Amino acid sequence: MTTLVRDIATLRQHVARWRGENSSVALVPTMGALHEGHLALIDIAKANAERVVVSAFVNPMQFAPNEDFRQYPRSLESDISAVEARGGHILFAPNTGEIYGEGFATRIEVGGAGEGLEANERPGFFVGVATVVAKLLLQCAPDSAVFGEKDFQQLLVVRQLVRDLDIPVRILSCPVVRDEFGLALSSRNAYLSKEQTEVARRLNVVLRETGEEISAGERIAEVLARGKSRLLQEGFDKVGYLELRDGENFDAVKTLASGGGQARLLAAVRLGSVRLIDNMPVR
Ligand code: PAJ
Repeated sequence: MTTLVRDIATLRQHVARWRGENSSVALVPTMGALHEGHLALIDIAKANAERVVVSAFVNPMQFAPNEDFRQYPRSLESDISAVEARGGHILFAPNTGEIYGEGFATRIEVGGAGEGLEANERPGFFVGVATVVAKLLLQCAPDSAVFGEKDFQQLLVVRQLVRDLDIPVRILSCPVVRDEFGLALSSRNAYLSKEQTEVARRLNVVLRETGEEISAGERIAEVLARGKSRLLQEGFDKVGYLELRDGENFDAVKTLASGGGQARLLAAVRLGSVRLIDNMPVR
């Protein structure tokens, strides 16, 4: 059975009861409109803890004024059924006032992985993400929390946040879940027209092939420049970035040997007013 919880006090009561039973707890933070990508995170949470809390909160602080906060899909009823079907115990869906009460005035700014790429394109985005994730982690106090590689930079920002603020939680990650065309599942895919969806399906193909060219030892700067023109040829209206970064410290990777961790190829593109991101490991 999945219980819908709307306030922090009730969430804490449930978690305290579970603690009394010696049960471990995992948190899966989301903005709702759950799809298979989110549900894969719940599976990982279930495999790592006895009790699973899924949060669904469309966080106004991480949307810029020109972004899609109002338009963002909301589907509480079907979210509850989806969490129930996957065996999650609580769906925590607070309203905005519960999270940002009167006089709320704190912002968390994460450096390191929180700089560049998404941060350049979406000023204030990671401040909103870091602030709400810190709050959710303090509200739920889970043993572990699960994040998707779909938002790879966000995953590194959360790891940095937890490390820097000594938040006692294990961050688990889940590979990108894709549809049969390789398109990374995203709530924002719902904004795409049929024609745009055809183009969107090319993003993962260009990423994969660009990654293969890099693995084959071609010069990274040239491959990336070619990849960008190719994305435009495929029909994307704009390429925000196409970059190779170290998968752990997020430094720019200039040669494959230079990275400490595994390299990641990350892209942001625009199709009309819809912004899409994706990424892949490069071996
Ligand atoms: P949201 O976009 O709803 O995503 C919630 C979690 O699901 C994130 O960790 C995201 O990386 C993961 N996810 C989404 N699509 C995925 C896919 N196709 N494959 C694997 N994982 C996927 O990310 C957020 O919400 C918010 O920024 C949040 C962290 C909840 C803070 O508000």
